[in-house]
Amino acid sequence: MQPAPSPAAKPPPPAHIAIIMDGNGRWATRRGLPRVAGHRAGADAVRRTVTACGDLGVRFLTLYAFSSENWKRPASEVSDLFGLLRLYLRRELAELHSNGIRLRVIGDRTRLPADVVELIADGERVTAGNSRFTLVIAINYGGQAEIVSAARRIAEAVKAGTLDPSSIDEAVFESYLDTTDIPHPDLLVRTSGEQRLSNFLLWQTAYTELVFTPTLWPDFGREALEEAIDEYHRRDRRYGAVGA
Ligand code: IPE
Ligand code: IPE
Ligand code: MG
Repeated sequence: MQPAPSPAAKPPPPAHIAIIMDGNGRWATRRGLPRVAGHRAGADAVRRTVTACGDLGVRFLTLYAFSSENWKRPASEVSDLFGLLRLYLRRELAELHSNGIRLRVIGDRTRLPADVVELIADGERVTAGNSRFTLVIAINYGGQAEIVSAARRIAEAVKAGTLDPSSIDEAVFESYLDTTDIPHPDLLVRTSGEQRLSNFLLWQTAYTELVFTPTLWPDFGREALEEAIDEYHRRDRRYGAVGA
């Protein structure tokens, strides 16, 4: 006998969700608090979202933590952000590891504080064998810089005679990006009502479904995530072809 289909059966979640975590400053300002209080509350939203993605069976979660343009902020805010990042990496690593989560960091590490670079390298090394789910954190990341860096290394390989220009196609180009081996995001969520990419994953979002929510990042959690996933499931992904 066939088992009756469960009325609650949901389609599988998107394999890769990318999030532009925006609105921490506004969340704090609305409460009469300093901006750092919003970033602190944002770190709790990260924990909730990572847990929810694990429970829902998402395979990749990419979080935009610090853009290559965020250096334009006051030095004190930049320092607060790196302080919180340190705390997160120190405190959460064991938890991530015991949950079978692999950590990967994308972005330019050359400008990061040395101890942060070390924490990242440790985190990636310790969790390298985990396969339940991959948490990708974008730190000092900019999509244009990533593409330029790939182009530069491709040019070097051509100059060295190890790469034939006629063999350069999308797949070869991708192999030079920070995100090599990571599938493109299926769903990109931006919180706080802003509707732009702010230099996030420019190459990788060619066919990503974009969902914008007015929720500020510190208020984000399982419910808002599930709403974004529901919206994703209502989309018809055509990739340039004719719809279903
Ligand atoms: C997102 O919140 C956190 C980072 C960019 C690091 P914001 O700090 O951008 O918050 P708003 O946009 O000023 O409200
Ligand atoms: C994008 O948010 C960067 C991160 C969330 C890390 P911003 O707040 O920096 O973006 P803009 O300046 O509003 O475009
Ligand atoms: Mg912002």
